[in-house]
Amino acid sequence: MSINVLFVCLGNICRSPTAHGIFQRKVEQAGLLDRVGVESAGTGPWHVGKSPDARAQAKARERGYDLSQLVAQQVAPQDFERFDYILAMDGNNLEELQLMAPEHYHGHLGLFLDFAGQSHHREVPDPYYGGDRGFELVLDLVEDASEGLLAEIRRRL
Ligand code: 4NP
Repeated sequence: MSINVLFVCLGNICRSPTAHGIFQRKVEQAGLLDRVGVESAGTGPWHVGKSPDARAQAKARERGYDLSQLVAQQVAPQDFERFDYILAMDGNNLEELQLMAPEHYHGHLGLFLDFAGQSHHREVPDPYYGGDRGFELVLDLVEDASEGLLAEIRRRL
């Protein structure tokens, strides 16, 4: 059995590629790359085909994560057939996904931070118009929630 995870934000150049790169690294370290698929996408079309934001890449690199090979894509209706977990970074992203979702989606559609240990933040704040601290916060929140998500998926495999 395999499990496929899609991380979703607005542009697919800051938050969801960070989640993609970090969670994929944790899956790799767990030796589960052949059983857990990871992708990311944006609800909006503006950045399709682009690499992650330079600030997101630089901050991730400081913690040892390489996001340079990721390419932005937009969420598509078929994603609801391919992914067992579709995890939104914030409530707006989740609302967009709920509007797109078929009535009988078989998977888990929800907020990524529902898997986090911390309970202060329920959403990953959009860092696009802010400074470095916003990108650090994204990394902190994503690292935390990635641990929780990996623990849940291990139980299901
Ligand atoms: P993301 O950040 O949703 O985390 O990728 C954003 C990227 C681009 C824009 C907004 C948020 N934008 O308005 O272009």
